[in-house]
Amino acid sequence: MAPPPARTAAFDAIAPTYDASRGGPARAGIFAEQLAPLLDPAEPVLDIGVGTGIVAAELTALGHRVYGVDLSPGMLAHARDRLGARVAVGDACRLPIRTGSATQAVSTWLLHAGPDPRAVFGEAARVLRPGGRYLVIPARGIRPADDIGQVVTELEDRLDPSGTRQDGPDFLAPLAAAHGLSYEGAASERPTTFHVSPEEMAAALAGGHLFTGAWQVTETDLPLVEEACARLRALPDPELRRVREMADFVMVFRREG
Ligand SMILES: C[S@@+](CC[C@H](N)C(=O)[O-])C[C@H]1O[C@@H](n2cnc3c(N)ncnc32)[C@H](O)[C@@H]1O
Repeated sequence: MAPPPARTAAFDAIAPTYDASRGGPARAGIFAEQLAPLLDPAEPVLDIGVGTGIVAAELTALGHRVYGVDLSPGMLAHARDRLGARVAVGDACRLPIRTGSATQAVSTWLLHAGPDPRAVFGEAARVLRPGGRYLVIPARGIRPADDIGQVVTELEDRLDPSGTRQDGPDFLAPLAAAHGLSYEGAASERPTTFHVSPEEMAAALAGGHLFTGAWQVTETDLPLVEEACARLRALPDPELRRVREMADFVMVFRREG
């Protein structure tokens, strides 16, 4: 059954430019390298929210047999080019997968992007065998704590008062535990450094690009975004690029039983 258009429209719209605007194969290759040591190459991998398949393709190149589901037909069209019939349209909250049939599953940058994490964990727990693992790379990993980061993080928190886009361990671990998935901790931490000025960040925000990408700035959000842009431009030396430090990591959840 086709997914309701409203839930996929945002990703359908950005699908053609998604890879290039999210770090391309370099980002995907790093994610695959972080995940690979935690995966059993003898067992298939289910990528929940496979998107354009860019991470799955890198995992495949490392010798893993990856299958994927995603709600967005636009994103999935690219995944199909990469992975063929191994991908299908499917909802992470209602996986088209048999109970207890998977040994390992991954999600990269999914849980901040719209689906109810409770439902996703419920489904991950259902499809995994006892002892199976669900590996999650969050979008909001260890964030830059510099002056730009303080403004942007505060903006994101104000745009998400109910916390539906939180995807860090503090928020997710109890939700997972409620479904029989125990959080075993973070692995494969990978620090990265990049350079951005407050002015560049303000321009990106004003153009509708929030740090975690998938967020759409609505008319209602605009005053908050404009306020954040003004605060960024009021920082000392707004044209000066800061060396920004963050880290990606993998959260490891294990199916109990
Ligand atoms: C930020 S993208 C990440 C894609 C890919 N994992 C990556 O790292 O490039 C988020 C993806 O989650 C998908 N998504 C959002 N809600 C979903 C749901 N309920 N079920 C399946 N996929 C979903 C979107 O369509 C999109 O492709």
